[in-house]
Amino acid sequence: MTQSRWVFSAHSPENIKRAAAILQKGGTVAFPTETVYGLGANALDPKAVFKIFEIKKRPTFDPLIVHAASMREAFLLCSEVPEIARTLAKKFWPGALTLVLPKKQIIPDLVTSGLSTVAVRVPNHPVALELIHRARRPLAAPSANPFGRTSPTSAEHVWNDLGEAVDMILDGGSTSIGVESTVLQIQGDQGILLRPGGVTLEELRKIIPVSTVTPKELESSEGILSPGLLKSHYAPNTPLYLVKDSFKETLKWLEGKNNEFKRLGKPWPRIGALCFGQAPKSPLISALVNLSPKKDIRKAASELFQAMRKLDKMEVDLIVAFPVPEMGMGAAVMDRLRKASAGKNNLKPFFE
Ligand code: TXA
Ligand code: MG
Repeated sequence: MTQSRWVFSAHSPENIKRAAAILQKGGTVAFPTETVYGLGANALDPKAVFKIFEIKKRPTFDPLIVHAASMREAFLLCSEVPEIARTLAKKFWPGALTLVLPKKQIIPDLVTSGLSTVAVRVPNHPVALELIHRARRPLAAPSANPFGRTSPTSAEHVWNDLGEAVDMILDGGSTSIGVESTVLQIQGDQGILLRPGGVTLEELRKIIPVSTVTPKELESSEGILSPGLLKSHYAPNTPLYLVKDSFKETLKWLEGKNNEFKRLGKPWPRIGALCFGQAPKSPLISALVNLSPKKDIRKAASELFQAMRKLDKMEVDLIVAFPVPEMGMGAAVMDRLRKASAGKNNLKPFFE
């Protein structure tokens, strides 16, 4: 771990106390949750919340999730709580499910970007829970990364990304789930999936009918649904291409291109591959990160952001990501890969 005056072990109760005091005074603290690290501030203090937007360079049209230490505290922030929301909360909280419900007045407009709803969740991480409990305030906390970039799954990532801009970083080790929470808007007795995440669609559908929205619908919703869920997001610095073909087929295509490049005397680019399952080495690929050679999709989710950062560090010219099966946690992984690729799904333009 990078040592600094900003990174503190979350195992020390003294450090949690200090962090809570910072939050009470309107400061910012980065802390671990089971999904990704959050950049927290007192959700009821607009000045404190504004610091989050400044540090992340996040546009204020992108609303924040409010974290509470218990179901009771979370629902105290909502003006209406349908029975189905309670049922979901009982089943999935503490956990990686964020519920979007009508908000109470005490929630500043800055938190919700002026929407009449608020996103709430009770995280399943002892440090997060202890911190909220000690601060005695709900915490607004987006992922602790600059806007649009890869989310942090360790304190070191936060330190590398935000450094001294945060008042304190609590180090609780690597996060277990590794992708963000599932965001579910509750409308009547139905759910609308705004972001796939740590709780799968299949799990939710055992309890509530859930409809999904296309990125187009999200974009055209003019602030009604989820203004922050942009098409391009979670991106590494290196351009990422999410190809449709398998590893084998892509290698074959690359071989053809490589022959062409040789004939023309053109230098071959440094390619980083982000794979899942079987992926034999090839001289055409400079760096290979396998999310899970054994095809364990939960493991792949937990490795995803770390893997993107690793490939960035290897200074490749492009990252070629291969699709994972879109079931269970695979939906969240594919969502992040699609957004990280910002629609780049064909290698041809890169090689022309
Ligand atoms: O796992 C997580 O959810 C992490 C950890 C730190 O809890 N947090 C996180 O926050 O991912 P953030 O800000 O990166 O993503 C929150 C998403 C945003 O994209 C936003 O659009 C959506 O939730 N959201 C927040 N409030 C909303 C609301 N009132 N209506 C619809 N969408 C909302
Ligand atoms: Mg985020």
